[in-house]
Amino acid sequence: MHLQKVKILESTALPFKQKFSPNLKKYLEIYEESIRDPEKFWDREARKLEWFRTWNKVLEWDPPFARWFVGGLLNASYLCLDRHVKTWRRSKVAIYWEDEVGNTRTLSYSQLYSEVNRLASVLRKFGVRKGDRVAVYLPLIPELPMTLLASARLGAIHTVVFSGFSSQALADRVNDTQAKVLITADGSFRRGKLLSLKKIVDAALEKCPSVESVIVVKRANVDVNMQKGRDYWYHELLKTARDYVEPVPMESNDPLYILYTSGTTGKPKGIVHNTGAYMVFNHAAYKWAFNIRDESVYWCTADIGWVTGHSSIVYAPLSHAATMVLYEGAPDYPTPDRWWEIIEKYGVTIFYTSPTAIRMLMGYGEKWLKKHDLSSLEILGSVGEPINPEAWIWYYKNVGGEKCPIVDTWWQTETGGFMISPAPGLVLVPLKPGSATLPLPTIEAEVVDDHGKSVPTGVKGYLVLKKPWPGMLMTLYQDPQRYKEVYWSKFPGSYYTGDYAIRDADGYFWLLGRADEVLKIAGHRIGTMELESALVSHPAVNEAAAIGKPHEVKGESILMFAILKQGHEPTTQLKQELKKHVREVIGPVATPEEIYFVHSLPKTRSGKIMRRVLKAVLMDMPIGDLSTLEDEASVEEVKKAYEEFKKLLKGSS
Ligand code: WT7
Repeated sequence: MHLQKVKILESTALPFKQKFSPNLKKYLEIYEESIRDPEKFWDREARKLEWFRTWNKVLEWDPPFARWFVGGLLNASYLCLDRHVKTWRRSKVAIYWEDEVGNTRTLSYSQLYSEVNRLASVLRKFGVRKGDRVAVYLPLIPELPMTLLASARLGAIHTVVFSGFSSQALADRVNDTQAKVLITADGSFRRGKLLSLKKIVDAALEKCPSVESVIVVKRANVDVNMQKGRDYWYHELLKTARDYVEPVPMESNDPLYILYTSGTTGKPKGIVHNTGAYMVFNHAAYKWAFNIRDESVYWCTADIGWVTGHSSIVYAPLSHAATMVLYEGAPDYPTPDRWWEIIEKYGVTIFYTSPTAIRMLMGYGEKWLKKHDLSSLEILGSVGEPINPEAWIWYYKNVGGEKCPIVDTWWQTETGGFMISPAPGLVLVPLKPGSATLPLPTIEAEVVDDHGKSVPTGVKGYLVLKKPWPGMLMTLYQDPQRYKEVYWSKFPGSYYTGDYAIRDADGYFWLLGRADEVLKIAGHRIGTMELESALVSHPAVNEAAAIGKPHEVKGESILMFAILKQGHEPTTQLKQELKKHVREVIGPVATPEEIYFVHSLPKTRSGKIMRRVLKAVLMDMPIGDLSTLEDEASVEEVKKAYEEFKKLLKGSS
């Protein structure tokens, strides 16, 4: 890698009007104290939750494996429900749900509690016990968080597969976990279009022998195939459900869930999170970032299929008895002000979304905002990818009316919760548009070069974490070796995040995107190898390469190269077919924007595709060092394919 100097905003002077008074000094005092004795710090935070039994030891660190709050017993569903229904909060609204066309459902904490208990009793009837895996493939309806909580109540391990993934992606994940129960819905809606989820499940289950029972939520009211002895309607099962199921006491280090995410090989990684430290960390960090109060109305626009939804829709907010909005649908459907309308309707005070969504709504213009009173807003969050200063300032000015701090939270599926973020719920630091600011208490982050040495101020390098933290992944499911290799071997002793970053003169972190073969498409993580194996699974394709290209709204878009097998012609029709194929193998998020046909690809002598060369050609950037390249001609070929494509574009416009 070539570490380069990058221009950044260095000054602490705020280039924008602000109505809050930050205090850097005070924040640093808290931070430094936390660093001096992180275990004492987390011991204190952990006592804010209700445990069935306290721990003997805060941390056992056998690098790179951590055990937190050893011997402590708790239950995540108890913390999110039972604890609240014992108080006045039983009648507090937990969830305001709404769909694209304005159907609504409202659930109080006591209703949510009762639904979760009943579902847990049904799952138990199907034989779900502590440690069993429960697969979840549901749209963003209240049954989704309920399923997670019901699974946690029984001590089972849930594994949610985003309902935008295809049947193959679903089957791969279900098979990896060997889940015996799967919960899904007949269908769901996106931009008014029906998505036949049950059909996708039926196709997946042909390849998933472990699944014995399927529970189907009636969401779309469409005819579906129900296989006798395997498929059951959720609403029918609930008729005979029991009202109460004792929450199973879990040791702090018993897994709560597995969530798959993309890495640098074709096989997704099963990130395993523990119960105790995950809850402690999320409970604390959520309060710091969003200053959640009983009066707050919180809305996170993510789907529960991603870690944002696990931590920042289900476990952290519910552990605080937050009132939240859940919206099933697209941001701009049926009109570009759908989200602004919802903020106004429910009086949302904390709004948490992605830079891609902000840029998209920015594109529609302020006129859509002006139709709505957004004065309820107090804090605005951002997550999933770096937020460019322009989008930051637009969000700050036009959505927040220059009175809401922008809380840019840097974290990952692996980190479980927020790591680098302003903390208005603790002490706000001066904000800089485009920077996630400083690490949260006890988090030690650093930017290093190829040799693991700290880089000077303003120099780009790799972001690493120097110490274990409570929300950290335990391991990769059934693959501790890969866990060690992926995260702890590049820089021995440190956790490798896979991100580029720089630190400015004030110690602020500026995240610069992925440093590995992982793309971020609209904030979603997709591995280049996954895309490539999807493309070569088409009978016409011999070899493939994928790269990400900067995209104004989505952050990155997917470009692919294909070498065809003999006897196949590079036609426009085939190109369309291949795009569709990748989409069908992985899901709509993985649709390539363009596919280029070539006869060879730039590779190293050991046969690795040099994606950086492909990228340089497509972006008209200097190609750089080619000394490890096997075949010079391949670069020329890629250039030619690209030039031809550019001509074609000109011709068609
Ligand atoms: C990757 C993790 C964490 C929830 C959603 C994504 C990028 C995430 C930020 C941010 C710059 C960010 C990083 C990271 N990322 N948040 N605030 N600023 N980059 O979870 O799918 O596991 O992706 O998302 O590249 O490594 P994920």
